[in-house]
Amino acid sequence: MNVARAEFVVSNTKVKSCPKTKMPEYAFIGRSNVGKSSLINMLCNQKKLAKTSSRPGKTQLINHYLINKNWYLVDLPGYGYARAPKTEKKTFQKFIIDYFIKRKELVLAFLLIDIRHEPQPIDLNFLRWLGEHFIPFSIVFTKADKIKKKEVEVKVSDYLEVLKESWESLPKYFITSSEKRMGREPLLNYIQQVNESIDEF
Ligand code: GTP
Ligand code: MG
Repeated sequence: MNVARAEFVVSNTKVKSCPKTKMPEYAFIGRSNVGKSSLINMLCNQKKLAKTSSRPGKTQLINHYLINKNWYLVDLPGYGYARAPKTEKKTFQKFIIDYFIKRKELVLAFLLIDIRHEPQPIDLNFLRWLGEHFIPFSIVFTKADKIKKKEVEVKVSDYLEVLKESWESLPKYFITSSEKRMGREPLLNYIQQVNESIDEF
């Protein structure tokens, strides 16, 4: 799929204030610093559409980006940022959770996992929570440029083995690097496929 247009629409902490236009949306979620905002920029062929930083905790709001005037990418704050103040952590969690539960336009969540890391309880718990709430999700392994090609396969299959312990069927997954622009086409094509499978919105 070609991303001909990508525009920032609105940022907020309230589901009620998210765009009212009824269009399918895809949210990016995962630990702080995993590369959510960078991935959105890479998909949109833009450097600064979503704000990124080497320091965790950069994205603090629900950000809607309108793509090709007919669907949204949604950048969310990360979780698991150890140094965030406790009160901040709680509000993050509350409005993120609220977003996932209430936002009817959300058709699929992409849960991002840093390919270098062993499976972390915080991600596995979040996946379980998505499952319990019947929220469809796919996994996106990020930062594949940081390890050798051979290691990529090993890391992914190790991760899937762990998922098999709690899931009957494995989710769809993507291997990406925003740095090397890897995994862009498969991800966009998948979104297009899902968009086309939605008859009416
Ligand atoms: P929060 O908004 O804090 O939750 O973080 P985020 O998940 O949006 O991460 P962000 O996109 O801001 O990226 C965090 C850091 O990782 C930045 O320094 C990026 O340049 C770097 N990064 C992101 N994706 C990649 C990648 O594919 N490869 C490499 N090498 N670095 C990446
Ligand atoms: Mg971010």
